[in-house]
Amino acid sequence: MTTIALITGANKGIGFETARLLGARGMTVLIGARDEAKGAEAERALRDGGADARFVQLDVTDEKSVTRAAEWVEAEFGRLDILVNNAGIARGDGSGAPSQTTLATMREVYETNVFGVVAVTNAMLPLLRRAPAARIVNVSSEVGSITSMTDPDGPMAAMASIPYPSSKTALNMVTAMYAKELRDTPIKINAANPGYCATDLNGHSGFRTPEQGAEISVHLATLPGDGPTGVLWGHLWTVDGPAATGTLPW
Ligand SMILES: NC(=O)c1ccc[n+]([C@@H]2O[C@H](COP(=O)([O-])OP(=O)(O)OC[C@H]3O[C@@H](n4cnc5c(N)ncnc54)[C@H](OP(=O)(O)O)[C@@H]3O)[C@@H](O)[C@H]2O)c1
Repeated sequence: MTTIALITGANKGIGFETARLLGARGMTVLIGARDEAKGAEAERALRDGGADARFVQLDVTDEKSVTRAAEWVEAEFGRLDILVNNAGIARGDGSGAPSQTTLATMREVYETNVFGVVAVTNAMLPLLRRAPAARIVNVSSEVGSITSMTDPDGPMAAMASIPYPSSKTALNMVTAMYAKELRDTPIKINAANPGYCATDLNGHSGFRTPEQGAEISVHLATLPGDGPTGVLWGHLWTVDGPAATGTLPW
């Protein structure tokens, strides 16, 4: 039975690389993208690389789009084995300081990074429950860890911003609560920290590649039955250098 994996925001960046890596493992990868042209282009590039890739229009902030995508997955495959909630945005106002942040920016970021994840997860859960042992990956960030962000000696010591970091903190709690609800099922749900990767999200300032970030999502998407659930796992730049991975504090 082919494994069916849906990745949101898969037309570029870490999401595209996640689709590429899962496709290389023989999975059917569903390329969630809000923009038809970009999604079709990503599907073509992945198919050219040998992956069984299928584009599905999916704007995580648009309930109709989310519902249509779930209906399409049900009609085509009848179940979903892997959901990677990867789509995300980062926005700021002025200097980026909390005191300069507008509610419009807060709402915009939360719509995608938090509410979008809940919308897509709830729409896909009936399909995920039909899989033998589904995996859900919520792509979070170390900047969502209150422990990391308040460590005066940590790499995030100078960063004081609210929309994006607090959206990932909320996403961490969302992840932990789904894990609680699903603890008596074979479904595992974890938050991923890809590390600081060079993508459009940060003007390509990251020191890791999108592929390295994607490897974190792939690890969590392919966890064995005795793997963890309800944790924040991924790149630990505070510990053992750029290659280290592990569970991060909330
Ligand atoms: N890069 C990093 O250093 C880093 C670190 C930690 C966590 N992350 C997380 O990793 C994930 C991927 O980010 P990235 O760095 O790969 O950024 P990216 O290159 O900007 O890609 C973001 C993706 O999300 C999509 N997206 C945005 N809003 C959407 C919506 N409403 N519906 C559907 N798709 C939407 C984008 O589509 P369009 O092309 O249409 O805009 C794009 O495909 C995000 O959740 C981000 O927060 C990134």
